[in-house]
Amino acid sequence: MLSYQHAYHAGGPADVHKHAALAAMLALLTRKGRGISYAETHAGRGLYDLDGPEAARTGEAAAGIGQAEADPASPYGEALAMVRAEFGPRFYPGSPVIAWAFLRPQDRMTLMELHPAEHAALHETMAGSGASIHHREGFERLLALAPLSPRRGLVLVDPSYEVKTEYADAARFALRLAAKWPQAAIMIWYPVLPAGRHAELLAGIAPLRPLVNEVTFRHPPSRGMTGSGLAIANGPYGAREALDAAMTAGTGIFA
Ligand SMILES: C[S@@+](CC[C@H](N)C(=O)[O-])C[C@H]1O[C@@H](n2cnc3c(N)ncnc32)[C@H](O)[C@@H]1O
Repeated sequence: MLSYQHAYHAGGPADVHKHAALAAMLALLTRKGRGISYAETHAGRGLYDLDGPEAARTGEAAAGIGQAEADPASPYGEALAMVRAEFGPRFYPGSPVIAWAFLRPQDRMTLMELHPAEHAALHETMAGSGASIHHREGFERLLALAPLSPRRGLVLVDPSYEVKTEYADAARFALRLAAKWPQAAIMIWYPVLPAGRHAELLAGIAPLRPLVNEVTFRHPPSRGMTGSGLAIANGPYGAREALDAAMTAGTGIFA
């Protein structure tokens, strides 16, 4: 099922949570000279126009990045500034473009996106980045490619959770990936919903002893997500402290 379109949710409170954490992890991983591999199983289109009809329809960006207080000197603040300077102030970066802001010539980026239109847009946005972009099912393809070279790296797992089985699928994928590619940090985003479906995901990845970071939204929509969660397995040294510091981006929007 491919009905989900991230343009409606880009820059929302969940994106602020996920992207502030992602920038913090990438800043840690790129501190030393050795190259890293960065990969995504569900990349999206990479760049979102917050003046577009999708953002106006949900108001999520206004409630998220519109109110966020990202410290300009933080990794997320620096990535936002670079992206706005490059693409213009009305654009919000998706995770691939945030990663692009951190990656160096010795690093490699591998992206999967299954939706044809999103894949085409991603291709266009990432032109010149050197990223390897696959129009394939994310879990299957990355498992086939792993381990990537360089071996040190980070994998972002960001499904749309349109179907309930995606919680268990994400957990199974993380266990298989960790077995094939033990050097990779694995960062899984999940929605916190009243139904508490993410419990199945967290139980499934418990053997990886992930670092879990959850935030509650100050003004949750009347139906749907009440918060946003991240589970990071095999995170880099200093991940917990860096995550805590990154959460200041949500001062106005997280409870
Ligand atoms: C939550 S969005 C990704 C947002 C992006 N990671 C970001 O933070 O900017 C999920 C994306 O996964 C894509 N998708 C859905 N099922 C997929 C699959 N099985 N394999 C790869 N991509 C898929 C959707 O088209 C959508 O663009």
